Amino acid sequence: MPDTNQHTIKLQLSGKTFSIKSDESVLEAAGRQGVKLPYSCKNGTCGNCKARLISGTISYPTHPPLGLDENEIANGDVLLCQAVADSDLLIAVREIEAIKDIPVRLLPARVCSKEFLSPSVVKLRLKLPKAQRMQFLAGQYIEILLAGGKRRAFSIASPPNDADELELHIRHIDGGDFTSWVFTELQVKGILRIEGPLGTFFIRHDNKRPMIMMGGGTGFAPLKSMIEYLLGKQSTRSIHLFWGARNADELYCLDLPKGWAETQSHIQFTPVLSDPSPGDNWQGRTGFVHTAVMDDYPDMSTHDVYMSGPPIMIDAARHAFPAQGLKDDRLFYDSFEFGADVPFEILAEPH
Ligand code: FES
Repeated sequence: MPDTNQHTIKLQLSGKTFSIKSDESVLEAAGRQGVKLPYSCKNGTCGNCKARLISGTISYPTHPPLGLDENEIANGDVLLCQAVADSDLLIAVREIEAIKDIPVRLLPARVCSKEFLSPSVVKLRLKLPKAQRMQFLAGQYIEILLAGGKRRAFSIASPPNDADELELHIRHIDGGDFTSWVFTELQVKGILRIEGPLGTFFIRHDNKRPMIMMGGGTGFAPLKSMIEYLLGKQSTRSIHLFWGARNADELYCLDLPKGWAETQSHIQFTPVLSDPSPGDNWQGRTGFVHTAVMDDYPDMSTHDVYMSGPPIMIDAARHAFPAQGLKDDRLFYDSFEFGADVPFEILAEPH
C-alpha cells in the first residue's frame, strides 16, 4: 500500500530532493536514496548529523535531540538521525560527496590475530575474504553484527592501503557483554560478521591547512589510520596529535606516535593524562586533553580539527573550540557513543 504520509525533503545548498516515509528518519531516507549526509552515532547524542531546518516541521518519536544545546535548538537546528518529517522540509546541510561511490558491504571476517595492548585494550586484526577488500576512507568505522540484531561500532585503526585486513582497538567496557566476550572467549580464527565502511569522519583534502588531531582513549584508532594513510602518501601536511587518557595504561601504544614525532618533522605529538596513577611516574602534560589543545592553540582560526573519542570529550571540545576561532566547517569528529540499541535511560546518564 502506498505511504500516504510520504513527504519531500529538499536540500537548500544543492537543490537536491528526496522522499521520506513516515517511519524513517531524514538520515535513513537520504541514505536509502543515495544522498550522503554527515552522521556518526545515529542515536541522537553526538550532534554530527546537525542541520538547519529552514521550513517545515519535524518530530522526534524515538530519542529527544540530546546532541543539541538550547542555543542550537533555538536557532532551528535539528538532528537528522532522529528527526522524522511531519511535512515537506527544506533543510541546510553539507552533503558528503567523498563517500558517495564507496559501497557499504556486509562481509564475514576472520580474526587473524588478537593481541592485548594493555589490560583494557585488545587489538584485533580481521581478515576479509579473498577478492573482497573493503574500500574505505581513513577514519571510517565498521559495525560488528551480533545476535538479536544488535551491533557494535569500531573505528578502523589500519590505513586503507592495508584493506584486506582491518585492525580494531577494542576497549573493555565494564558490564559490556560484547567486549567481555571479545576479551575472554573470542579466539583467533573466529568469524565475525561486519558491515562497513560507515561514518563521515575522514580527512578533507580540499585544503592544506594544518591539522590538530585529538583522540581520547581508543579514539586514537581512527587518527592512527589517518596518519598512517598520510604517511603512506608522503604527505607533509602539518599534524599536531593530542592523545588523552586517564592513566598511562590507557595510552596503549605510546611508542607509535612518539616514533612518528621523532622521525617526521611535520608531526608533533602531545600525550595528556587526566588522572595518572602514582605508578605511572608521569612527567608529561596533565588535565583534560581538550584543555591542553586550547592552551596550545589560543587561536584555532587557521586549523582544521579532527577528533574522536568519548562523548564527554567531544561534547566539551565542540562547544569550547569555536570560541577560540575554530570555524564550524573545519571541525570533524567521531563520538564513540553507545550502540543504537542501548536504551534511552542509559544514553541519558552521564558517561
Ligand atoms: Fe545524529 Fe549522532 S546525533 S548521528
